[in-house]
Amino acid sequence: MNHLIAPSILAADFANLQRDIEMINNSEADWIHVDIMDGMFVPNISFGFPVVSAVKKHATKPLDVHLMIVDPDRYLKAFKDAGADSITVHQETCPHLHRTIQAIKQLGCKAAVAINPATPVSTLDDILADLDMVLIMSVNPGFGGQHFIENTYKKIKELRTLSAEKNPGLLIEIDGGVDANNITKLIEVGANVFVAGTSVFSSANQVAAISKLKHP
Ligand code: DX5
Ligand code: ZN
Repeated sequence: MNHLIAPSILAADFANLQRDIEMINNSEADWIHVDIMDGMFVPNISFGFPVVSAVKKHATKPLDVHLMIVDPDRYLKAFKDAGADSITVHQETCPHLHRTIQAIKQLGCKAAVAINPATPVSTLDDILADLDMVLIMSVNPGFGGQHFIENTYKKIKELRTLSAEKNPGLLIEIDGGVDANNITKLIEVGANVFVAGTSVFSSANQVAAISKLKHP
């Protein structure tokens, strides 16, 4: 399949959010990545439901909601109601991951699990068949603008091998430090959804930066 690009609005100008959403609408981006941080699971706080609803009002592309929060089960329906099309929970926050994934699917959202850089791909072996997507964190979650962790390539290869048997249609999303320099190699090893915050929003021509990621 062709790979998908999901600009992360964590790097947008929050005082001009409508303008930045419209930029994404008018670009070759496929999804809009929405980072929710609670100051507990990760050391940073981003934004909550009113902002997600406001983004949804203007977005013409699906909202890819990434929950970096403890006990995400408490908030799945609220994020669906705010406009989430896909919901990603962290493996590290879900003791009953199978139940959580079923709950996301019952809401009618795509269901995904994220793993931190230190969490092995093998921990997802028994849930892989139930997932639409796995998000491999290529930085430690919490902040935009960090350096890409090279071990990510190895994890993508391992996940592609595992999913070939259990879930060949699995989407593999990469989040953190993705740019025009590393996207080609990430595609080669088997990833197919790319979050990009800084590399898009720090660019003088953001639409062109998205286009460059779409056609590397
Ligand atoms: C990090 C977030 C990312 C972040 C990526 O915790 O999950 O989605 O916005 O930002 P960049 O592309 O700047 O690394
Ligand atoms: Zn994210």
